[in-house]
Amino acid sequence: MAIAVDLADLPATAHLAQTIAPLLKRGDFIALCGDLGAGKTTFTQYLLAFYGIHQVNSPTFTLHHTYEAELLIHHLDLYRLEREEELLQLGWDELLSDLAVVIVEWMDKFPGLYPREFLQINFFYAFEGRRALLTGRGSLWQDTVACLSLTQLPDKKGDYLCFC
Ligand SMILES: Nc1ncnc2c1ncn2[C@@H]1O[C@H](COP(=O)(O)OP(=O)(O)OP(=O)(O)O)[C@@H](O)[C@H]1O
Ligand SMILES: [Mg+2]
Repeated sequence: MAIAVDLADLPATAHLAQTIAPLLKRGDFIALCGDLGAGKTTFTQYLLAFYGIHQVNSPTFTLHHTYEAELLIHHLDLYRLEREEELLQLGWDELLSDLAVVIVEWMDKFPGLYPREFLQINFFYAFEGRRALLTGRGSLWQDTVACLSLTQLPDKKGDYLCFC
């Protein structure tokens, strides 16, 4: 099951990020997918702001940033990588076993390296803003997304949340 959320403006993205952020725990993985400029870093910035981290730059060129807060959080951007091997050489396996929260932009470039359980968020351009499609992969995230759809993201006049 997936849920779609209209992100008409930045406050809507902030609301989604602030809804997801308190659910995170050590070892969680979030795959952020979508075209250039679709809103992946923006979502991450709002999510990290929830943990008191306000200086978040895109890791497009640096590839990987780590933040220490209540949780250890790795933020990666795989846009510039071309082969799975490059990612493995950078210590992908260690990263996943680090008991940190791992947030990865452009994860869909490397479908062979997804972990077993993760939250996938696909961002799309929609009108002036964006639309996000949330999919739980693995039973834990499937349950979480199902609960989100029931409790955390109430319908606002019928145009905020829909079921896919
Ligand atoms: N919900 C939204 N409504 C309107 N504008 C948005 C929304 N979300 C993000 N933006 C804007 O889109 C622009 C690009 O956002 P962002 O850098 O987050 O995209 P990205 O997916 O990380 O891009 P890249 O693929 O280059 O990493 C920013 O100017 C940001 O303010
Ligand atoms: Mg980005």
